[in-house]
Formats: sequence, structure tokens, C-alpha cells
Amino acid sequence: MAAEKIAVTRQTFDNVILPVYAPAQFVPVKGKGSRVWDQQGKEYIDFSGGIAVTALGHCHPALVETLKQQGETLWHTSNVFTNEPALRLASKLIAATFADRVFFGNSGAEANEAAFKLARYYACKKHSPFKSKIIAFHNAFHGRTLFTVSVGGQPKYSDGFGPKPADIVHVPFNDLEAVKAVIDDHTCAIVVEPIQGEGGVMPASPAFMQGLRALCDEHNALLVLDEVQSGMGRSGKLFAYEHYGIQPDIITTAKALGGGFPVSAMLTTHEIAAVMAPGVHGTTYGGNPLACAIAETALDIINTPEVLSGVDARRQQFVEALQAIDHKFDLFSEIRGKGLLIGAVLKPQHASKARDILHAAAAEGVMVLTAATDVIRFVPSLVIEPTDIEEGMARFARAVEKVLAA
Ligand SMILES: Cc1ncc(COP(=O)(O)O)c(C=O)c1O
Repeated sequence: MAAEKIAVTRQTFDNVILPVYAPAQFVPVKGKGSRVWDQQGKEYIDFSGGIAVTALGHCHPALVETLKQQGETLWHTSNVFTNEPALRLASKLIAATFADRVFFGNSGAEANEAAFKLARYYACKKHSPFKSKIIAFHNAFHGRTLFTVSVGGQPKYSDGFGPKPADIVHVPFNDLEAVKAVIDDHTCAIVVEPIQGEGGVMPASPAFMQGLRALCDEHNALLVLDEVQSGMGRSGKLFAYEHYGIQPDIITTAKALGGGFPVSAMLTTHEIAAVMAPGVHGTTYGGNPLACAIAETALDIINTPEVLSGVDARRQQFVEALQAIDHKFDLFSEIRGKGLLIGAVLKPQHASKARDILHAAAAEGVMVLTAATDVIRFVPSLVIEPTDIEEGMARFARAVEKVLAA
């Protein structure tokens, strides 16, 4: 028997959900490709991708097929038993990256929590229990557990929850000299997003990333890359580290890994993984067959020349449309990011209008995001149709015009 459907509206949110979000005033009920419909049947073009998650659009037929097939086969076993989809997905992630070992979780925060614990555990086992310093960056975002908000560089997310994990140092992003000033032989890891997402869509420079690699090697520290937002094709390569000519020690991935189904992974080398043993870390749901089957299909589709090589052409279309808007309204100081992680930075005189633009865009029928306080962020499906980009940007331009005229 299906669950009884009681009537719910956006107002219900305010009555029943913990008030940690301020969702838009409409309630999406259906999605197909890069189009979404709300309770009233209004249609939106989705440039927000569920915050860089629905990389193949909504209800991609291959993902739906896998969901149905695996849903009728086996959902969950726990890690007391292994399962075929997890073993296949891990094998394919290893074949596609620098890594030799995979740990599965359910969210980006969980993959990062595992990565930070592994970095400390490795240092403790291989070097010294005092080698626990983690170097991270201002404006970084790594998730919402206490360890991940503490490594993240945004006090608004980490303050007010009591004592934080100790020995975490934050320095400015893209500033190698600042890292040199704090790194020492007690450092176990540098944790960095190759492209800061929530922090304002800010790519690391090649010299910075290569410099971090060299500093880690010098001090026997691990280079941990948070690719939760930048990974799975978003940058035009499967993982953004591939742009930098470096090899990380640990990467984390989530978001687009499951195309909308919750799943995450931490990838590392055999040598680092070898310090772990049964019972040292774990999770009940991590690597469950349903999530892994869907992620396997997502990976099979994303990790193809057709999808990856289409990212740059789509970016170009976005950038040209944003430049045309800028030409008309003198709105942006910079359009930055990589691939389909695009940030349009508002000029100082418009910096306070990011949220207004987001709401006006929704009213015009296009879903966009903000990042930091003054950046409009676009993280659409990697396979969004060019006609959807064209129509969505026309709607976005109308929204901008209305906000500036108000
Ligand atoms: C770079 C990065 N790391 C970690 C996270 C946290 O992922 P989750 O919300 O799935 O825990 C996010 C989410 O936005 C992110 O962008």
C-alpha cells in the first residue's frame, strides 16, 4: 500500500522543518533533463543542478533504469557483507584516477570526515601522534559535521557549537607564502578545494597547487583534495586535479557521483590505506548496493569523451551570454571558475543584489545559485541542451533587468 499523501505547501516547511534553510517560495514537484516544474505547474530551467549534483539532469533515463533494476534486486546489506555494485564502482573509480583504495559514504561531509581522520591516523601510525596539524583555507567549505566545519574556513558555520577539534590552521587561499609560514613537520595534511565552490567559485592557480604538492612532500604531509563540488566532470575533466599536473594523496567526491542519489567516496593510495584495519572507521549505509549501482551508471556516462568534451562548449555558451548581459548592464567584475562551475562576480555597487537576482530569476523561470555574498553561481547539468542554456539565459537577463530597474 502506498503512503497516504497529505496536502503540503511551502508554508508546511515553516511548520515542520528545522529552520536551517530558507528555501525558495515554490515547491518543485517534477524534473526532466534541465527543466523543473513546481506545484502550480510553472516551468523552470535549472542552472542550479541541485547544487552541482544532478550532473546528468533530472531523471536521466539510464539512472532511472538502474534505480528500478537495483531497486528490485538488493538495496542494503550493511558492511558486514560486501556487494557487487560497490565492488564494481570502486574498481571503476580506481581505474579512472590516481587511487588504489576507496571508502564509501553518503555525503560530502562524510567523505571529508573520513579523509581528515585518515590523514591524522596515517600520520599517527607512520610518524608521531603529535603530527596532527591540518592546514586549510579561508572561505573553504568541507561540510557540516563538527570536524568538517572546523576545517572549513568560515566561522559562521563553525562557531557556537562548543570546543572544536584542535590543531587546524587557516590561511588565505592561493597564497603559497602563507602556507610556507605555517607548515612544519607536525603538519599531517593540507586540505584544499581545487576550485572553491561555496567560497565564491575561485579556482586554485596551478603554481599554488603545485606548490602545495611540493610543500607536502617536503614535510611528509598528505595533500587532501576536496573534489565534492569540482569532481565528476564538472571542471571538464573527471576530477579537477587533472588540470594541475599533480597527484593528490586523498580525494573526496560526492554530489554528482550519484547524480542526485546520496553517495560519496574517499579515494586514496594503497600505501596510505594500509594503516587502516577493520573497525577503525565505518558507516552503516556507506557503499550500499542501491547507491553504488546508480553511481556506477553515472560514472559510466560522465567519464566519456562525449560528456567531458561537451563541458567546455557549454561553458563558452554561458560565458558569452553572461558577457552580453554585462555589456548591457555593467554588472559583473569577473566571470570565473572552470568548466560548468561558473561564478559571475557582481561589481561592488551591485554586490548586495545577489539574493535579489536569485529570487527574480526564479520568478522569471530559471533556477540559479549564489556563492559567497556577491557571486551568482551556475552549476547546471553537464549535458544541458544548448537551447536550454539560451532560453535560461534570456530569462536570467530579464531578471537582472528587473532587479536593476527596481
Ligand atoms: C567542496 C565541498 N565539500 C563538501 C561539501 C559537503 O557536502 P555534503 O553537503 O554532501 O555533506 C560541499 C557541499 O556543498 C562542498 O561544496
